[in-house]
Amino acid sequence: MERTLSIIKPDGVSRGLMGEIVKRFENNNIRIIAMKLVRMTKSQAEGFYAVHKERPFFGSLTDFMSSGPALVMVLEGENVIAKNRELMGATNYKDAAEGTIRRDFANDIEKNVVHGSDAPETAAVEISYFFNQFEIVG
Ligand code: CMP
Repeated sequence: MERTLSIIKPDGVSRGLMGEIVKRFENNNIRIIAMKLVRMTKSQAEGFYAVHKERPFFGSLTDFMSSGPALVMVLEGENVIAKNRELMGATNYKDAAEGTIRRDFANDIEKNVVHGSDAPETAAVEISYFFNQFEIVG
């Protein structure tokens, strides 16, 4: 059984998309085993996205991610990392397949509604960035 970190980013929360996105996870046999709203500080967002610190969009991305509440979740299921990435669609909404979250709701490459871990190693690091063992209902 695999785990991944999902974030509904501040644009998704402020646009009222939490219920719709959670429903998609539930409809696809993905179990939510932890969930909370977080308002990241700029430095917490910088820590989370540290791998991107040399990218030109780093400053803007971390401003955006610390601009309001985000919904962070731990998802569990078979192949859930790939499954979640399939449900999200490509980073750039213009390349995202029909019926994906980003294709349906995003209209900006940065404010792209959701984040999902890309591999088991990053999932472990990202989950422990937000949750301790007592917050995860395994
Ligand atoms: P995410 O999957 O959370 O991982 C890194 C984030 O950086 C990405 O989603 C987007 O929000 C943002 N991002 C990636 N590429 C670009 C880009 N070319 N311009 C602006 N933001 C980007």
